[in-house]
Amino acid sequence: MTSVPIPDLHDPIGQLLDTHSVVVCTGAGGVGKTTSAATIALEAARRGRRACVVTIDPARRLADAMGLDADTARGSEAMRVAGPWNGELWAVMLDTRATFANLIRTYAPSPQQAQNILNNTFFKNIADALSGTHEYMAMEKLYELHNDDRFDIVIVDTPPTTNALDFLDAPNRITRFLDHRLYKMLVTPSRGLARAVNLAAQTFLRSISRVVGASVVDDVIEFFANFEGMEDGFRARAVAVRELLAADTTTFVLVTVPRRDIAEEATAFVTDLGMAGISVDALIVNRVHPQFGEQSLSELHAQLDQFATTPLGPFATALLESVEIATTELDHLATLTAALPAAPVVTVPFLDTDVHDLAGLERLTGHIFPA
Ligand SMILES: Nc1ncnc2c1ncn2[C@@H]1O[C@H](COP(=O)(O)OP(=O)(O)OP(=O)(O)O)[C@@H](O)[C@H]1O
Ligand SMILES: [Mg+2]
Repeated sequence: MTSVPIPDLHDPIGQLLDTHSVVVCTGAGGVGKTTSAATIALEAARRGRRACVVTIDPARRLADAMGLDADTARGSEAMRVAGPWNGELWAVMLDTRATFANLIRTYAPSPQQAQNILNNTFFKNIADALSGTHEYMAMEKLYELHNDDRFDIVIVDTPPTTNALDFLDAPNRITRFLDHRLYKMLVTPSRGLARAVNLAAQTFLRSISRVVGASVVDDVIEFFANFEGMEDGFRARAVAVRELLAADTTTFVLVTVPRRDIAEEATAFVTDLGMAGISVDALIVNRVHPQFGEQSLSELHAQLDQFATTPLGPFATALLESVEIATTELDHLATLTAALPAAPVVTVPFLDTDVHDLAGLERLTGHIFPA
């Protein structure tokens, strides 16, 4: 059986909570990121911190348990979850549109200009493309909450992503938009040659208005005119978000399950993050099957041969199958820990029920934060 080198670091994720103000829970789809992020936030509250978790598409019942409601503003505003902890637990559901609208309000020179942009039909059409990636808006929300005095620590769930670079690159989306030639053509300072280009661009747009309709073109021009003066703020923000992700007070926890494909994906993800200068500080290996007894697989096969035709046969089969699953899982886990030798690992068993309420999260705290 493969032995997995598990660093002997007691309560590694608990230690990260004491020294960090941002925890990013990342990993492949369906591995338990949302559940882990909520559990970590709950534990931070129990340790006396004012913790806020940003969840992405939480299961309905878990959202309900945290007082979040996808159909109302109660989802996108941080809601305080009542409970018997020394600190505070807050939860918020990521709302990409609302987050992007907040950004516009933050960087618009006046509330009126913000409103003009938000009401603009062209903006409404491109807003989804710009805010559409959950990665970008999750990082934005994280930055917003990190700077919110109500919270000591922000735990962010992330959308399922196989490519770490998509995620790290997300804040640059807006910068790329601002660097786009059409944008530059339309919003260059209204002087000299630039002004002429600007007018030329407008003339060009007016000529296409015969095809797409004048009101569409008017919307586009109005949008760009209103956006003028906001680029610097957006660019600075992209840099600040990226810096927050790389800060010493930000920690990345990788959630995974002991399956070959997911472990391979996780290994690639860790390598990509590393190339971007970000290290994964701990691994949560979720939904691990239990290891029963000390017998080797060959002993269990022999035992099955011996008992196959007796009433004990089904039990011997079940035991052999369980140990086979656990052994295979350990092999997959070994690949991952070999790629990440320095990161401590905590394992969480496959529970007999889904985790959809605070009691379920409590069950997980015992494993993610061993006493
Ligand atoms: N240790 C566990 N034992 C049993 N069920 C679990 C365990 N951890 C998580 N689950 C269940 O697995 C499902 C997926 O978990 P979760 O939603 O946290 O994953 P996710 O990584 O956030 O998924 P997605 O990528 O789709 O957002 C949920 O129904 C959750 O209740
Ligand atoms: Mg999730």
